[in-house]
Amino acid sequence: MSGVTTPFIVIVSGLVGAIVMALIALVPATMREATIDAVRRGAIDAAEQLRMTHERYAATVSSRPRLPAPKGVIRPVEPPSPSAFLQDLVNETRSRPNRFEFLSPFPWPGREPPAFDEFRKQAWKTFQRDPNVVFTNEETLDGQRHLRLAVPVRMTTQSCVDCHNGETTSPKRDWAMGDVAGMIEMLTLQQNTRRIGRYFPEGALPWGSKTGTVGDVSHDAGFVRGAGGDMIIVVFTRGFPVLHDAEPVMGEIARLAAVASGLLPA
Ligand code: HEC
Repeated sequence: MSGVTTPFIVIVSGLVGAIVMALIALVPATMREATIDAVRRGAIDAAEQLRMTHERYAATVSSRPRLPAPKGVIRPVEPPSPSAFLQDLVNETRSRPNRFEFLSPFPWPGREPPAFDEFRKQAWKTFQRDPNVVFTNEETLDGQRHLRLAVPVRMTTQSCVDCHNGETTSPKRDWAMGDVAGMIEMLTLQQNTRRIGRYFPEGALPWGSKTGTVGDVSHDAGFVRGAGGDMIIVVFTRGFPVLHDAEPVMGEIARLAAVASGLLPA
């Protein structure tokens, strides 16, 4: 033991201590960023897919030849406008944790203009300057953290311009190709509260996590922030045929771990 001096031991333990402190400080921030990044990428994808669905539908309905109905045949009901088609989807997602809106400050004649709060006003202003950006903000809605994201909807095909400018009662009939006509707004829940945080008393502990599921294997990996320190926790489950049954188990394990580490009272 003569080779190991006291200063050496002090230096090594000091280094180890510093690394542990750095990990404790950095890991929750990194995990939180990874969560937000994944949510953001998913939301942008979803918004883009809805935008493309609207565009495709617009190109399809308007390119249909309007042939006279053959004798004795009753014409089927006209297909809904591209916007009405998307609005039906909006209504179907309204009660879901992740939902979207299709909006414009220039609503079709006879329709109520949608409420434009600060987020929507700023997004609209930004899109007029640069129609290639994604506008985002983090907001707390119904006590839960959401990512609010907007992408512009532009007049990308001649059919958009023709149909909109052709409406004689419309106050705006000078649409041109490329104009930003509206936007798709996505609301995405940032935190899955059905797993790790499931049984934490509401608002008691700041926490964050990233979930994943492949087949019957599910996990939730995250951090829980306490006054005396942070807990990093990863819970894996396997063999639950139904995810619905695995999630309460993950919640209970995380709750017990929080109690065991003194973050929650027993
Ligand atoms: C066949 C006609 C037609 C075509 C083609 C069409 N629209 Fe529309 N658009 C409408 C109608 C009708 C409404 C209003 C629908 C409603 O009130 O349900 C509307 C509404 C909208 C709105 C929302 C405004 C509001 O009422 O709140 C936007 C934005 C929009 N259209 C953009 C576009 C874009 C971009 C395209 C092309 C990709 C397009 N439209 C193609 C007929 C059309």
